[in-house]
Amino acid sequence: MSAKNTIMTAIAAAERGAYDYLPKPFDLTALVSMVGRAAQHLEVRPVTPANAPAENLPIIGRSPIMQEIYRIIARLTQTDLTVMIEGESGTGKELVARAVHDYGKRRRGPFVAINMAAIPRELIESELFGHEKGAFTGATSRMAGRFEQAESGTLFLDEIGDMPFEAQTRLLRVLQQGEYTTVGGTQPIKTNVRIIAATHRNLRRLIDQGQFREDLFFRLNVVPIRLPPLRERSDDISDLVRHFLAQAEREGLPRKIIPAQSVERLQAHRWPGNVRELENVIRRIAALHPEEVVSPETIDRELASVALSQGAESGDDTGGLSGYLENHLARQFASFSDGLPPSGLYHRILANVEPPLIRAALAATKGNQIKAAELLGLNRNTLRTKIRTYGIQVVRGL
Ligand SMILES: Nc1ncnc2c1ncn2[C@@H]1O[C@H](COP(=O)(O)OP(=O)(O)OP(=O)(O)O)[C@@H](O)[C@H]1O
Ligand SMILES: [Mg+2]
Repeated sequence: MSAKNTIMTAIAAAERGAYDYLPKPFDLTALVSMVGRAAQHLEVRPVTPANAPAENLPIIGRSPIMQEIYRIIARLTQTDLTVMIEGESGTGKELVARAVHDYGKRRRGPFVAINMAAIPRELIESELFGHEKGAFTGATSRMAGRFEQAESGTLFLDEIGDMPFEAQTRLLRVLQQGEYTTVGGTQPIKTNVRIIAATHRNLRRLIDQGQFREDLFFRLNVVPIRLPPLRERSDDISDLVRHFLAQAEREGLPRKIIPAQSVERLQAHRWPGNVRELENVIRRIAALHPEEVVSPETIDRELASVALSQGAESGDDTGGLSGYLENHLARQFASFSDGLPPSGLYHRILANVEPPLIRAALAATKGNQIKAAELLGLNRNTLRTKIRTYGIQVVRGL
């Protein structure tokens, strides 16, 4: 509702995903009927290039969680506050960092990113603060560090959780004093940068384990932004799909239509790789699938093949055991032409889960079946029967 009835009000409302807006004054019946019409639009709409938004938004998604994040970003643009972005891999941390810079007071300054996980630990300080000629073997000329490059702009400290401890100490001092010296240098240099940090790791846990400085955490965590995994905002998937399809088309890939049923399949997926994974799936479909209309079966096949390639590498187990099982099952089902494996599936799956569980419990209790039964929360006789059924070897004292 607005008293400023200019075209910009409407554009701004539309940009923010409003279904409509009401210029003041208005009467209640108009409001009620408009809300009624808007409510009918809540069902999943098919994704076609025809209803692709023409605007060029930096971040896509209109779920309540994202609205809250937009509100924080909007407030941040008026300030120079330090920001800490936490979120799983592929949730858009770098995108948010760029938006804070691009719409903020420092947008005319540089945006400089440095990834702590990608730089050998012995080079981190020289990367951050620069070095003088001859500071160490191989330093054949003076080099500017990222702090210097980011002067009057924003310095994005990506994967801050991977920063070596000694470098954390140095960084903390620089942030406290507002000045630094280059490696091999003596003159303190004043810094004027906005700091945005990001991590996919749990910093609280790293602090408990003594791997991250708590005082540095408090320095950086002035405005925390927690980016939710994609599975917690599946409402955003149709907008994201539309966005990535349009992007693929602009890059010369053939035009595709993803009907509502197919979007629902995408919404049911767990997306351990979050938005990046969705982007890759859409690109692959746009590039490889011959039909213009993408069927639900095509989506299922595509998701099953993604699960297959992810099984091996799962270094970060964001999906957990049930996520893994879901992917495993999706793969199983997809491998049969009618989508149905032979009957007895329940017991086949249990027969894969129970033996490793029992073996682990026995190993942890050194083969003591009474303790193993207790650990598992099973009756002793039940455990004994299972051990026999599965032919598990019990070695006492091992
Ligand atoms: N809300 C979004 N709207 C549009 N594109 C998005 C969105 N979120 C993420 N993306 C896209 O997904 C990809 C991954 O995003 P980004 O690199 O920002 O994630 P990240 O959290 O930094 O991941 P990582 O932890 O792996 O570095 C990028 O190509 C980005 O453009
Ligand atoms: Mg990133």
